Amino acid sequence: MRALHVSEPWGLDQLKVVETPDPEPGPGEVLVRMRAASLNYRDYLMVGGIYGRGASTGGAVIPFSDGCGVVEAVGPGVSRFQVGDRVATLFFQGWIAGPPTLEKLSTALGWPIPGVGRELGVFSQEGLSKVPDFLSDEEVATLPCAALTAWRALFEDARPQPGDTVLLQGTGGVSIFGLQFAHAAGFRTIITSSSDEKLQRAKALGAATLINYRQEPEWAKPVRAATGGVGADVILEVGGGGTIQQSMRAVRVGGHIAIIGVVAGPGEPFNPASLIGNSAKLQGLSVGSREMFEAMCRAIDQHRIRPVVDKLFPWTEARAALEAMARGDHFGKIVLKF
Ligand SMILES: NC(=O)c1ccc[n+]([C@@H]2O[C@H](COP(=O)([O-])OP(=O)(O)OC[C@H]3O[C@@H](n4cnc5c(N)ncnc54)[C@H](OP(=O)(O)O)[C@@H]3O)[C@@H](O)[C@H]2O)c1
Repeated sequence: MRALHVSEPWGLDQLKVVETPDPEPGPGEVLVRMRAASLNYRDYLMVGGIYGRGASTGGAVIPFSDGCGVVEAVGPGVSRFQVGDRVATLFFQGWIAGPPTLEKLSTALGWPIPGVGRELGVFSQEGLSKVPDFLSDEEVATLPCAALTAWRALFEDARPQPGDTVLLQGTGGVSIFGLQFAHAAGFRTIITSSSDEKLQRAKALGAATLINYRQEPEWAKPVRAATGGVGADVILEVGGGGTIQQSMRAVRVGGHIAIIGVVAGPGEPFNPASLIGNSAKLQGLSVGSREMFEAMCRAIDQHRIRPVVDKLFPWTEARAALEAMARGDHFGKIVLKF
């Protein structure tokens, strides 16, 4: 079979398609033929050697955590799956349920565990989940990381109440899932973007208030204006240092800021004054468990939520797909097709 490998000195130039022996499932393991994989910003950082920086297999990393595939064979003792089942790979192979622990969070696919950038993969039966039938393979492949992160931030951690307002930053993978989930659950949504065209696409998905953060760098002001001076109840903070000061000004008193990502760069030095003034919570999070994934899939099924697959590349053109991600001109998800 063929697989993507990246190794020292890291970088997009080092991403290669290599021939490797077909894997065979051992006890409790499942052989999956991959059909689609989706990209996360983490993959871009990982291939560049900025994140992870360690070989996951034979001196190289097999990148990408989010895959959809079909079970081709099962090893002895496998009870969760049969040949022919369609599955998603779980981001954390060892986080089944309960609160996170260091051990559970050390089982991410891509790094340190070999990822889904390969035609055939062997996974523990515990690290796979069945998926809603109505979704395409490409749509399923978007769920393991970005969707589950948005889901957990909203419904496990922040738990907004009827009438609440949820704020999303930008129109990347996590934020568009956050928009779709919050809208389906009946919350009022505000979204920021650098692009008016992307804001119109977000409106079509239910966003009530649209803010261009290039035109309104002090976007906390229009957020307050749109909420009668109160502020947003929940903010999915994907920007990091570059957006946190505005988030702490835009959040309502007692509100929740889910600390998710770093796409906006380091920004100004951290000043907690408005966080203190707003008695708000900051909570970091890293994706979620299988139990949370299953709860999310039930909601996706019930509300018929279709993930936004914006760009599709053949898997052997992963480099071009990662370059597209770095440009940031996508809306929602970028997906590789096998
Ligand atoms: N903690 C976790 O478990 C977890 C899970 C998944 C992702 N993450 C992190 O979350 C972040 C987002 O991930 P993703 O996969 O959604 O990335 P993505 O799809 O690459 O998102 C890129 C988008 O971010 C937006 N953006 C960039 N600068 C911004 C700014 N200053 N203000 C608002 N939006 C800005 C842009 O939206 P516009 O083009 O609309 O301006 C851009 O298109 C990354 O840092 C990723 O590593 C963390």
